[in-house]
Amino acid sequence: MAIKKHTKEAVAYHHVPREAWATRIGLVLAMAGNAIGLGNFLRFPVQCATNGGGAFMIPYFVALFLLGLPLMWIEWGIGRFGGKYGHGTTPGMFHYLWHHPLAKYLGAIGIAIPFCLIIYYTYIESWTLAYSVFSFTGKYFGIETHEQMTQFLSAYQGTVKNQYFNGFGTAYLFFLITFALNIWILSRGLTKGIEWLAKWAMPTLFIFGLILVVRVFTLGAPDPAHPENSVLNGLAFIWNPNFNALKDVKVWLAATGQVFFTLSVGFGAIQTYASYLKPKDDVVLSGLATTSANEFAEVILGGSIAIPVAVAFFGLQETQAVAAGGSFNLGFFAMPIIFQKLPLGQFFGTIWFLLLFIAGITSSVAMAQPLMAFLQEEFKIERKTAAVILGALAFFLTQPVIFFLKNGFLDEMDFWIGTFGLVLFAIVEVILFVWVFGADKAWREISQGRDIKIPRFFYYIIKYVTLGYLLILLGVWFFQSGVDVIFMRNVKPENYTYIWFARFLMTGVLVLILIFVRIAWQQKHKIRQIVP
Ligand code: ALA
Repeated sequence: MAIKKHTKEAVAYHHVPREAWATRIGLVLAMAGNAIGLGNFLRFPVQCATNGGGAFMIPYFVALFLLGLPLMWIEWGIGRFGGKYGHGTTPGMFHYLWHHPLAKYLGAIGIAIPFCLIIYYTYIESWTLAYSVFSFTGKYFGIETHEQMTQFLSAYQGTVKNQYFNGFGTAYLFFLITFALNIWILSRGLTKGIEWLAKWAMPTLFIFGLILVVRVFTLGAPDPAHPENSVLNGLAFIWNPNFNALKDVKVWLAATGQVFFTLSVGFGAIQTYASYLKPKDDVVLSGLATTSANEFAEVILGGSIAIPVAVAFFGLQETQAVAAGGSFNLGFFAMPIIFQKLPLGQFFGTIWFLLLFIAGITSSVAMAQPLMAFLQEEFKIERKTAAVILGALAFFLTQPVIFFLKNGFLDEMDFWIGTFGLVLFAIVEVILFVWVFGADKAWREISQGRDIKIPRFFYYIIKYVTLGYLLILLGVWFFQSGVDVIFMRNVKPENYTYIWFARFLMTGVLVLILIFVRIAWQQKHKIRQIVP
């Protein structure tokens, strides 16, 4: 009797139906939403401006072609492959790629990375929502210098107190709203939540982007006394190649880091979205479409807004100086000053920050989905409960990010997760898929159900170049700055404790996921003893 009951449970355990995308357009928009994020509109212009403009674009396109696009296909391929076996996350996917007890534990990185990312990404996303409201109400209107704008943002973040804000209160409120929205979308599931969001958010984002680009392009040279400060010169700065800069390793590292971050490759999140495909669905054209949509949003829209407009109003040198101050400087300091100089500035400010918010939320739900899928599939936890568990964990872990922002907590996480972690995880997945599973099988897996053919030379790129490039990159980084970063040589001594705390938290998340994986597999093992 007891055995019969267990058998029934075990059969049910193995046959829980997985969610699936309702439409192909919904899938492509959701994947585009996954990739297009704050990285396209905030990080890209700053990276481009601080690394020499046209000098940056050559390594950028090289990395896109040799790493970004191949990894996109690899991750779509791994994701759809895992989906066939009922797994939406990399522990299960790697388990079927490499029948070795270690495989599933390597896959744990593909849940820890996106989960750590949402811990700080959602907080930044909430600033953009707040700034769209500040633009609408004109709260920052009247602040005309970069220094004052810096003070405005710092007071908003609660790192100083001044006439603009008197503590964390406002930032915390917007964080709560943003966080609740994310959890609500996740709790509605794949089609009613994520796909629904993508279907209205992505067209809105492109419309807002185009409105802003048209506004920028019709500015010309706003100051007749400085005709060199023009939109055209801003564009020329990005698009005039500078071959001399190719000798600078730093520019290559920055360009590659940007390609990873913007495409969301090395995250673990593309695999989860792709796992909801059917085994015969195409991944080649869809992966290419995602990459193209992301590059359109980044290079055409992202590249045509912040830098050209800043050059037109402040000149090239000042734009570069502002960008050098940090990732948020062009978006949060330069742009709000410029909006005040434009007719209908409140309107343009509102849509700029709403565009950022939309870009952010479609990415943050994608980063949360791996842990959602893991809890639902490996522990059979109901979707809404999974969203609550994820929400509680993420909420708790975001607190140090908010309260220790000025101590470098967020930057430390961003480096280890948003730069180092992505490259490391990409190396692991390429080794497993291309070298352990096998290059020919991997190629067949990607090509199955294809709507277009991948040129054969990509086989060799995927097999040799992508991995070689990644290993060289990691090696160069280690010899150039790895030791300094590990031993915190550029950290202020008063921040040591916070940096250690950030490292402890990231390690803690990884250990927690490793434990979850172990428990999940132990349960499976027990059930397999009953139903082989
Ligand atoms: N790919 C996402 C972005 O660009 C994470 O922000």
